[in-house]
Amino acid sequence: MSTFHSLRVPALVASGLALVAAVACNSGGSSTATTDSPTTAHEAVGDTTTNGATSTALHAGSIEAGRDVYRYETFGDEGFWTDAARMPQGMKTAKLTVLQALQAGVSFDADAIPAALRTALASEVKTDHSPAKAPKLNDPSILDQLVKANAVIGMVPKGGKVGVTCALCHAITDKSMYELTDKGTIGKRIDGPTPHTLNVGKLLATCDNTRAFFTTAQLVGPDGSTIGRAPKGLTAKSTEAEFDAYFSNPKYYPVGTFDDSPDGNGNSIHITPFFRQDLAAPYGSSGQNSDLNDFNNTVYTALFDQSNLLSPGGMQFIHGLGATAGDSMLAGYKRVLAATGVTGYPYVTAHMQGKPGDPPTPTGKRVDEQKLRDLQAYVNSLQAPKGVVANAALVEKGRALFVSQKCTDCHNTNQGIAVQSKLVPMNVIWPAYAPKVIAQRKPPLTPIQNSPGTFDDKMVVVDASPGGGIRGNALPLLLDLARKPVFLHDDSVHSLDELFDAKRGKTAPHPFYVVTPAQRAELVAYMKSLDTDSK
Ligand code: HEC
Ligand code: HEC
Repeated sequence: MSTFHSLRVPALVASGLALVAAVACNSGGSSTATTDSPTTAHEAVGDTTTNGATSTALHAGSIEAGRDVYRYETFGDEGFWTDAARMPQGMKTAKLTVLQALQAGVSFDADAIPAALRTALASEVKTDHSPAKAPKLNDPSILDQLVKANAVIGMVPKGGKVGVTCALCHAITDKSMYELTDKGTIGKRIDGPTPHTLNVGKLLATCDNTRAFFTTAQLVGPDGSTIGRAPKGLTAKSTEAEFDAYFSNPKYYPVGTFDDSPDGNGNSIHITPFFRQDLAAPYGSSGQNSDLNDFNNTVYTALFDQSNLLSPGGMQFIHGLGATAGDSMLAGYKRVLAATGVTGYPYVTAHMQGKPGDPPTPTGKRVDEQKLRDLQAYVNSLQAPKGVVANAALVEKGRALFVSQKCTDCHNTNQGIAVQSKLVPMNVIWPAYAPKVIAQRKPPLTPIQNSPGTFDDKMVVVDASPGGGIRGNALPLLLDLARKPVFLHDDSVHSLDELFDAKRGKTAPHPFYVVTPAQRAELVAYMKSLDTDSK
């Protein structure tokens, strides 16, 4: 682990955001942003934005308008997903069918499927799914038709291209038309809950130019080291087939995870719920952003169009976080884009604003402020699913244990109030944490450092230190846990029973246990019962 990583930049994490972002952490990015609006909106190379000016007339976020942002707004990312990553072309090359998309955990919006096709699919799903009995499920052109009808959740048609929205990873359906057991579904959209069986890595591998996701792949550093789940890292010279092999291997890129940090480390982490965000701050596992709109702007400007990291502001951002290592990662990325014929980037529709590296504007750009506000209003309004109670007496005992075992030092019993905003230091959440410094950074940033094991990989480069915070783990929403198949942000624990079983050891991540199997059953029942009405 070494140096290389330092190179890698900090990530901005996709969703998360970047260290940088954290820096200032002021909150309220929205209001701030608004005031210094853009004078120079279009000077950046590739800046296609035109709407910086709308920020002069901001009003409170609209839930309804925010729903459209959530489901359909791409801010130009179809340029990246179609012209750079070539997702629709890859789906065609792979002759991807509706059935295969369902197997990859993709969800379909039944209401958006043209009526005749919906009727046909509804009867085909009841067959054995063979090409003879289910021709449409096995016909790649039908998947293409569904994308064009805006029925593939999160993949949005825009002027002949296809972009990606938040809904891809942050929505499920009510399965009213179909559920391929433990995989994708067809039904009415439910925004917010995590599609735990969505195979994001496989979708990325299906793109014709998976190398466009270079900065979020597991790379090899100049000293030959690499951080991530794979034994070997990738380089700017690795082939498309080698990138595909990394992204499509669930051992390296587990199902239900996404790597949201453009830091060259292979640290895909489990997708978190995206409802009741008013309760969830700070945002990201490492708590890197205290302001939701700043986090969301980072997703659009640094993650959904990763080529924007090669804009002048993007390069400044990465340099601030990773210094020469960051610079060299970007140099490799530039070579990859050139070698794969990608031109005309960046694509994101955002105006120039603020200082690159500041949390509201990591790459020196901000998407439309009103739309960020609308999105925020929407995700705050989205409700958590009801808890699941199979045995009320068990739940009651579990609650008593939760209190007596001091789980409440960190978690609330009342899930209808905000989680504690503190970060839990790495050596508390993971007593085995023994980091080696890879590179020093300018204070207040902590050094880039790595410990053997995967639990800290997301935090090697990205933590809350740019904003003066510590390197640690944010507290999760304890909601919708009955549906969750894996636990902890790195997917390292495979059931709630295992999570609370002392067999994992005193130095394992999250080493908070109860003694007997009966107690574990009580605690598990309690966890599954939680919703925002739990007191
Ligand atoms: C390709 C999958 C993917 C897509 C698409 C996606 N996200 Fe996420 N999102 C994630 C993952 C993975 C996490 C967990 C990050 C972490 O814990 O650090 C996450 C977490 C978040 C969080 C942090 C929530 C919390 O409680 O800390 C926010 C905010 C967020 N995403 C916003 C967005 C927005 C806004 C969009 C659309 C512009 C979006 N995401 C699209 C994968 C995705
Ligand atoms: C020192 C603080 C602390 C204590 C004490 C603590 N937790 Fe946690 N807990 C956390 C943090 C931080 C996470 C997030 C870990 C991660 O994202 O990898 C977490 C995660 C969890 C999760 C997993 C959520 C998910 O979506 O994967 C559950 C369930 C949980 N805790 C229950 C408990 C119970 C039950 C106890 C008491 C036996 C307890 N915790 C004690 C800090 C704590």
